Amino acid sequence: MDVTMGPEEIDAVSAVLRSGWLSMGPETLRFEEEFARFLGVPSALAVANGTVALHLAYLALGLGPGDEVLCPALTFVATANAILYTGARPVLVDVAGPHDLNMSPEDASRKLTSRTRAVLVVHYAGYPCAMDHFCALAREHRLHLIEDVAHAPGGRHRSVEGAKMLGTLGDAGCFSFFANKNMTTGEGGLVVARDLDSAAKARRARSHGMTTLTWDRHRGHSFTYDVTGLGYNYRLDEIRAALGLVQLQKLPAANAQRRELTRRYREKLQDPPGLILPFTAHPLEDSACHLFPVVLPAGADRAGLMAALAEKGIQTSIHYPPIHRFSYYQELWPPDFDHGLPQTEDLTARLVTLPLFPTMTGDQQDAVVAAVRGFF
Ligand SMILES: Cc1ncc(COP(=O)(O)O)c(C=O)c1O
Repeated sequence: MDVTMGPEEIDAVSAVLRSGWLSMGPETLRFEEEFARFLGVPSALAVANGTVALHLAYLALGLGPGDEVLCPALTFVATANAILYTGARPVLVDVAGPHDLNMSPEDASRKLTSRTRAVLVVHYAGYPCAMDHFCALAREHRLHLIEDVAHAPGGRHRSVEGAKMLGTLGDAGCFSFFANKNMTTGEGGLVVARDLDSAAKARRARSHGMTTLTWDRHRGHSFTYDVTGLGYNYRLDEIRAALGLVQLQKLPAANAQRRELTRRYREKLQDPPGLILPFTAHPLEDSACHLFPVVLPAGADRAGLMAALAEKGIQTSIHYPPIHRFSYYQELWPPDFDHGLPQTEDLTARLVTLPLFPTMTGDQQDAVVAAVRGFF
């Protein structure tokens, strides 16, 4: 993975440092406005990272003890951790299958109980979930629908109503700008909420539960504040917001590069026997192509493949060890609890993520392809 910061990012950060105003100021407001415009929504809330974006969304929607939230087993642990922060419980849902690593709507429906209050979807690797199904499920059972868009800024979902930006289909959309994401601020995140009340709750909880902010007071808009609920310090600073503004401008071109590299991988990795390239049924132009995961044939020596590539200087990774395999999560359920995750269980040992980053050259990609083919 390569992180590319150009002179534009360095200039933007330097300007903030020279300005002397380092947190909750004009850059953060501008970043929120630009991101909202990018998504086509009225407002957005910049926060410290993607994990707290999820926490704020869950809080704003009123999730708490006694509630169950359907969420994929195959995701980064933060998705589920943030559910636990609220006192609610994650209920782990299987993936659709080796060709579609997103959450299965059928399994989500099977796992509904009288306590289910919300569904959390992750647009895994940048590919849109089956949102027609999840929106219908949420409507029918009066559930909140939250999108974890950490992998998919700039991705779209297409339906008969047209294309919509990922993150704008549910009650809330949560983005991460961690260093390995399609756009980055080092650490950073953002939440969008569909209704004004949830957006206002998330905004207050971001900043200690305070009713007015430093920036408002600085501009003379108010002199004091009240605290109307338990809040946190989940703010993004001006330095990162300035970085985010530049990265947001570069996102469409970077995503286009990722799509082209994905197209090329698909073309060149067709023949190894038994190798599955997931998501080929998803239109590439709607994906943010964050990752290029492959599914190895059952019984394949994954560690051997990863070691063979590492020897050639090629870094691979695994997205992800599933949530229910972590010791901490195993303690949350009785030892013999069956989560009913046959597809996730099957795929867990077979997933490998190949390198994919916008500045990857054709030669670099050809070297990865040759190493994978060589192994097979
Ligand atoms: C799917 C998913 N959800 C949530 C997060 C959490 O984001 P952050 O690292 O910004 O807290 C990440 C990534 O890091 C992620 O990949």
